[in-house]
Amino acid sequence: MKKITITTDFEIFDSIKELSTPIQSLMQEAITIRKSAYAPYSQFKVGAALLLENGEIIVGSNQENAAYPSGLCAERVAIFQAGSLYPKTKIIAMAISAASDNNTTSAPIPPCGSCRQSIAEYEIKQNTPIEIYFMGEIGSIYKSDSLKNLLPLLFDKKFL
Ligand code: THU
Repeated sequence: MKKITITTDFEIFDSIKELSTPIQSLMQEAITIRKSAYAPYSQFKVGAALLLENGEIIVGSNQENAAYPSGLCAERVAIFQAGSLYPKTKIIAMAISAASDNNTTSAPIPPCGSCRQSIAEYEIKQNTPIEIYFMGEIGSIYKSDSLKNLLPLLFDKKFL
């Protein structure tokens, strides 16, 4: 038997003001679009904003459905929109903010497993890392330099 150890580095920012100016703007876009979430079932609203290498910002919010699995997370709404509108343009960074109507979310809210898998596809496709910044409604922001840090041993096309 052998063991492998996988370690991950995150940077933690105490507030939005600590972020670089373009990433502050990106997080503000995520916060703004979060308010447009359609989340009547969970009352949990998520906003995602993507910065593309051409300077465009693409946003998305979670969209729920009475048939629960038919809804979609904010991150995938945003990344599929980017993939549709700008299929050849690299994604530099994604900012995520989440808030509940029922309590104040102060913990950084990471993307769910399905979103990680979806984001990984685009990172592999473009062959450069996507920075991921995530936060709750208030509080600190976590930064990962690459989606890969959030999804060790990821499944990708090389296994097909
Ligand atoms: N949600 C997201 O939009 N992104 C995530 O990464 C986690 C969860 C949404 C899905 C659902 O509408 C609500 O949050 C509660 O799970």
